[in-house]
Amino acid sequence: MRMIIHDDYDLMSKWVAYYVASQIKKFNPTPEKPFVLGLPTGSSPVGTYKNMVELNKQGKLSFTNVITFNMDEYVGLTEDHPQSYHYFMRHHLFDHIDIPPENINIPDGNAKDLEKACRDYEEKIKTVGGIHLFLGGIGPDGHIAFNEPGSSLSSRTRIKTLTHDTRIANSRFFDNDPDKVPRTALTVGVGTVMDAKQVLIIVSGYGKARALQKCVEEGVNHMWTVSMLQLHQHGILAVDNDATHELKVGTVAYFKDIEKDNVDWRQFEI
Ligand code: GLP
Repeated sequence: MRMIIHDDYDLMSKWVAYYVASQIKKFNPTPEKPFVLGLPTGSSPVGTYKNMVELNKQGKLSFTNVITFNMDEYVGLTEDHPQSYHYFMRHHLFDHIDIPPENINIPDGNAKDLEKACRDYEEKIKTVGGIHLFLGGIGPDGHIAFNEPGSSLSSRTRIKTLTHDTRIANSRFFDNDPDKVPRTALTVGVGTVMDAKQVLIIVSGYGKARALQKCVEEGVNHMWTVSMLQLHQHGILAVDNDATHELKVGTVAYFKDIEKDNVDWRQFEI
């Protein structure tokens, strides 16, 4: 597992956007051979999406041959509800880039048969040949997508009940009222994320410091589902300084040293 430590959120976001762009460029996607990208919501990726939109507007990065799969969606919010992940993705990314609408996939939290929607989602990922790069964020309890503590580390797309903790964390988008946060969500599983060829997780701010410490310095544990990244062949953590506050000085020094030539976004050929 790699960890790239950036001075602040803006530098981290730029690095992630340029990394994603460089991977898409290198792959040279075509209609017959599209690049398949997994995407998260939350405040962590907002800066990354801003940079991706800019690269698209500058003509440096095209999404014409990119297929996306989002990680999760609340159950029961309409697609135009301002807190639905459908709305979030349109607002922050899809409305501003050249991706064909039919290439966008987000779990359907309003499906009549939610279990079937989950099975179909997994099937569709398989049909397009799997995900090349899964971008993600984490919750303060170390959850990846909505794989709350105790989730199976080989789980697939399914319905999950959100913890009280997560509903409090996400209530900042729901008039600060945890009761307004939906109780369930559809989410890709930890196994779904880990099947991707590469996994890149964005971790920002003091609020994530404990989860980052569990993920980097302790063992693989279902109580911190992001720690599964330790078993991935190509797992990267892109973090800012604030998120490293619970790590040992030696851990931070080690990753800063080993990644010192890789921390500058200008290295990527776009
Ligand atoms: C939600 C999402 C996660 C996301 C997390 C963190 O719980 N389901 O995928 O990583 O929020 O959000 P933020 O980046 O806003 O801290």
